[in-house]
Amino acid sequence: MKQTITIIALLAAALSAAAQPAGRESWNSGWDFTKDGQTRTVNLPHDWGVEGEFNQEYPGETGKLPWWGRARYGKTLEVSAEDLAKDIRLEVDGAMSNASVFVNGIKAGGWAYGYSSWAVDITDRLQEGKNRIEIVLDNKPESSRWYPGGGIYRNVWITKTEKTSVAHWGTFITTQMAAGKAIVYNKVTLKAPGTCIARISTRILYKDGNTEYIVAETRSVVEAYDGRTEIQDFEILNPRLWSPENPQMYIARTVVETEDTKDVYETPFGIRTAEFRPGGFYLNGKKTFLKGVCLHHDAGALGAAWNEDAWQRRLEMLKEMGCNAIRMSHNPPAPELLDMCDRMGFMVIDELTDTWTVPKKDNGYATLFDEWAEKDLTAMIRRDRNHPSIVLWSIGNECGEQGWPERWDIPRRLTDLCHREDPTRLTTAGNDNPGAAFTGYAETIDVYGFNYKPHLYEKFAQEHPTQPVYGSETASCISTRGFYRFPVEQEKGKGWTMEAPFQVSSYDLYAPGWASKPDYEWEYEDKVPECAGEFVWTGYDYLGEPTPFNMDPSVFTNFHTEEEKEAYRKMVAGWGQQISDVPLPSRSSYFGIMDLAGFPKDRYWLYQSRWRPEKPVAHILPHWTWPGREGKVTPVHVYTSGDEAELFLNGKSLGRKQKDGYRIVWDNVLYAPGTLEVVCYKNGREWARDKVQTAGKAAKLSAYTDYEGKDLCFVAVDVLDKAGVLCPGASATIEFKVNGPAEIVATDAGDPTSHVPFYSHELPAFAGKASVIVRRTGNGPITVSASSKGLKKAKITL
Ligand code: GAL
Repeated sequence: MKQTITIIALLAAALSAAAQPAGRESWNSGWDFTKDGQTRTVNLPHDWGVEGEFNQEYPGETGKLPWWGRARYGKTLEVSAEDLAKDIRLEVDGAMSNASVFVNGIKAGGWAYGYSSWAVDITDRLQEGKNRIEIVLDNKPESSRWYPGGGIYRNVWITKTEKTSVAHWGTFITTQMAAGKAIVYNKVTLKAPGTCIARISTRILYKDGNTEYIVAETRSVVEAYDGRTEIQDFEILNPRLWSPENPQMYIARTVVETEDTKDVYETPFGIRTAEFRPGGFYLNGKKTFLKGVCLHHDAGALGAAWNEDAWQRRLEMLKEMGCNAIRMSHNPPAPELLDMCDRMGFMVIDELTDTWTVPKKDNGYATLFDEWAEKDLTAMIRRDRNHPSIVLWSIGNECGEQGWPERWDIPRRLTDLCHREDPTRLTTAGNDNPGAAFTGYAETIDVYGFNYKPHLYEKFAQEHPTQPVYGSETASCISTRGFYRFPVEQEKGKGWTMEAPFQVSSYDLYAPGWASKPDYEWEYEDKVPECAGEFVWTGYDYLGEPTPFNMDPSVFTNFHTEEEKEAYRKMVAGWGQQISDVPLPSRSSYFGIMDLAGFPKDRYWLYQSRWRPEKPVAHILPHWTWPGREGKVTPVHVYTSGDEAELFLNGKSLGRKQKDGYRIVWDNVLYAPGTLEVVCYKNGREWARDKVQTAGKAAKLSAYTDYEGKDLCFVAVDVLDKAGVLCPGASATIEFKVNGPAEIVATDAGDPTSHVPFYSHELPAFAGKASVIVRRTGNGPITVSASSKGLKKAKITL
């Protein structure tokens, strides 16, 4: 074993995030984009669907936005004679969907699945000077159960490498812990035009601020040829382990040299052990509960278009809530999202698909499965296997084959493929068929994920004493931020009606037939220590799937014949749902712990109170502005990490109560305007307080920076009365303006029924709040102002 443990401070160099060669350049700006006969210039990442308008006739299931169709993106690539001595690759992180690449009019490659990352070697098709690169997309309608987006919605890169260099996704780093040290293996795969002698040198670097330290290095001299692999090993004494609390990263910098060329490739990685055992999940040997959320790929008003700031903001909010894990449902995410999970410390389930061969949608993944599944799964694993954040490969979600033993060769094959591509991680799937778990299907995957079946954790653990189990989807509690319905009923289907305002009460008691309130899931988690964790459906509201208001007549645009429609009606009735006669306006989900604009709903504090027991949390609901409810029963729920609480209305105690379950409830509070305050206790000592106050008439706007990133700034506006209390019913129209080097990208207030296009600069506040997303276009201060008729304006400088 060749290794050096000397620690040498180096000058800071710009270290990359994702595994990549040094010759990779962003190729996002200035594409011509042609759709429906019109051409304009766009920068990537680009989602044409979210730029459009909501249309009542379009299916709510996919967000009532125009995301389907054919389109062409084109751009000129200038190539020098020197470049032509290299290999040139076009790398696409994600294009929705059925992409074909043309170089100077000749097809050079492409990829069908919109969620995969892929690359095309275009070297042989290029000439010196200008080359026309085109990517043609064919995004089919009826292909998704949620909003998929349309366009080249992730980053695109041009990568130039020496002929002899590390192949695309050509490093695989694995680590092993031994007493006080880690052994790191770097399996390098080379590409080379013929056969030659090459030197492969790898340094393991640790970065602290701007200083890099070499912690180990090694060199091998090999006979290089295409596909040649070489395993290099290193020993790191007292390694800094990766964990959610302390997400320490290392970088392997690999240099491949021949007599006259030199190429550099960097691979970020982490050192940790992540083991699923029958008794639960163990990170670095310590039992760790996966406090997870599921996330779809869209970022609300930005649609599917990848944006680092938008996701940084989202992840910070999740982290603050106590979340430590994310299930990328139901497809591989943007690679940068995984980099972020590495850096911020989230454990990740990386998932391939929502369907195998049994279709959920006419043009869904089932139509691609036979030809593409192995290629897509291989691409996912090769792209992602160096991320310490990833702890499981998920091969699918609620696939129809669960109950079909003749088709269990499919999950077996996919599991085998995962093991072959990555022997260090186990496989899982999200499963909803309760019978399948006990009749042999469970054995086709390694770690068993139940969607909404916490009552089966115990039985599963008993009948499969060697197989780990967890909740791959939990709760699916639905609600609208700031909306409460009275009387408060306990049954899970009683939080809404199929009439306006198409909102769901925010008491966090309501869920569709197959789902439950969070508390129900927790009862089982607390009873069954074998349960390794849960992934709440979902962290954020997403575009599409507006359950329970997805059953509107527009859903029938998905079906062609009367028999199909009738069969669908019956199926829906079987779920305890009905197709409404009323056209339903809803176009985004109600499942999120946060709404679509990123504002937390009440259950944010419910999860925080459970997931961060050390943090003093107190949260009262509902809000306390109920003109007309004077003297009426208005139940009060308190979420706290304490164990006891006393509630005061206008200074008068309404009683001190012990926590019984997961919340503290005063069912018989009679509403009177004023101040409602809770004092929470833990072990008899005061622990946390919260209060809500009755708001008067809306008087002013107040703006604050919700998140300020390099590219985007998120500014939120509250509608307040003159004393500064949030007016929770306010729906005043707010107009946003920016001054300085910036532009407005989108606005949103989190209302799942709003049809105001995201590009509008004006929108009604929803439950007293609205937000604007601003893009910086140059240097210098930016002012964002918000105005509304009859209210005092708000202004903020970024
Ligand atoms: C699950 C499904 C998710 C989502 C969820 C809503 O069955 O896997 O994609 O549809 O239900 O509750």
